[in-house]
Amino acid sequence: MTGFALTAPNRTIFGRGCRVTAADEIARIGTRVLLVRGRSVAWVDELAAELTHSGCCLQVVYSAGEPDLDDVRNAVAFARGHRAECIVSVGGGATLDLGKAVAGLCVSEGDVAEYLELGNSSPRQLKDPLPFIAIPTTAGTGAEATRNAVIGVPEKQLKISLRDPRLLPNLAIVDPALTDGSPKALTLASGLDAITQLIESYLCNRANPVTDALCEANIRPAMASLHRLMENENIKARDEMARASYLSGLALSNSGLGIVHGLASVIGGRGAAHGAICGRLLASGLSVNFGAVTRGLGNVERFHKVNEWLADGLGNSGEDGVLALRSFVDANGLPSLKDLGVLNAEIEEIAELALSASSTKANPVKIQFEEICYLLRSA
Ligand SMILES: [Fe+2]
Repeated sequence: MTGFALTAPNRTIFGRGCRVTAADEIARIGTRVLLVRGRSVAWVDELAAELTHSGCCLQVVYSAGEPDLDDVRNAVAFARGHRAECIVSVGGGATLDLGKAVAGLCVSEGDVAEYLELGNSSPRQLKDPLPFIAIPTTAGTGAEATRNAVIGVPEKQLKISLRDPRLLPNLAIVDPALTDGSPKALTLASGLDAITQLIESYLCNRANPVTDALCEANIRPAMASLHRLMENENIKARDEMARASYLSGLALSNSGLGIVHGLASVIGGRGAAHGAICGRLLASGLSVNFGAVTRGLGNVERFHKVNEWLADGLGNSGEDGVLALRSFVDANGLPSLKDLGVLNAEIEEIAELALSASSTKANPVKIQFEEICYLLRSA
C-alpha cells in the first residue's frame, strides 16, 4: 500500500452561516489582530465591528489582487508595527495568500525574498509563524487548506510560493454564503481552478489513498455545480463549490498538481488571473497527458474516470468529457489565452519555463517541451 503523510488546517469550521462564530473564535486566538481583506465583501465590516466589540485591537490591510514582494513587505511592516498576535484574512485566494505570507514572515528576520526559492541558494527557514485564520469569500483556490502562499516576483515575471507546513491556517472558517451572488466570470474562473486542482491531484504521480478519496468524491459534483451556477444562482451549488474548493486545497497540499498549474505559475507571473488560466488550459492539458498515457506511460484508467465524471457533471453522460469541458468553457465566455496576454511568439519561452516549475514535477507523465508547446497552441 502507498504510504503517505497528511497535513490539514489545525481546525476547520465549514457550513452555511458558520461565519457568525468568527469573532469569538478569533478573539480566543489573539486580541491584537491584523485583518487582511479585499474591498468587495460587506460582511467584513460587520466582522471588524464585532471584533472591536469583543475587545480586540484591530488594524486593517487592504489586499489589491495577487500579492507581489512589495505588497508582502509593506503588510509585514504594518503587522510588526501593530504588534499583531494573529493574522485574519477574509477574501479570495490572493487575500488569503497575503495574510498567510504575513503570518509566516512577521516574526522572521530579513526580507521576504530570502525565504523564496529564487536562484540557486536554498531559502531561509521561517521561525514559527503567527496564528493565521483564513475565511474565504470565493470558491476556487482552496488556499484556506494549503501550506503555501503564492507571491509575484515582478522583476523575474514569476510567481513563487512561500512554502512551509507551518503556514497551514490554525483555523479555516468556510461559510459558502460568503460566495452567494458572486459575479458569473469570477464564479467560473475560480470554480475551474478548484476543479483543475481536484483533477491534477487525482492524476498526479504523488496521489495517495486519502487524496484519491477526496478527489473521486468531488470532481463530478463540482463540475455539475459549476454548470448549474452558470445557468442560475443556486444555494446548494454554492455549498458544493465551497466544499470542493476547500477539499481541492487539502488534496493538492497532500499530493501535487501537474502541467496545467506548472504553466499557470509561469503565465500568472506575467499578470494573468490564475483561475482563468487553469480553466483555459485544463481540457488541452488532459488531452496531451491522455495521449502520453495511452502510449503506455501511465495509468489510463484514471483518465477514463475523469473523462466520465466531466461528461456526467456537464449533462453529457456517455460522451467525451474533455470535449464537453472545452465547449462549456467557451460557451460561458472564459477569456482566451490571447485575452489573458499570451502571445504566439512567447509559447516556446513559456513552455521552457514551465518544464522546471514545481507543479510540473508531479505531472502523471514526464512531459516533453514539444508537448507543452502543442498544449498551449491547442488551448
Ligand atoms: Fe490553482
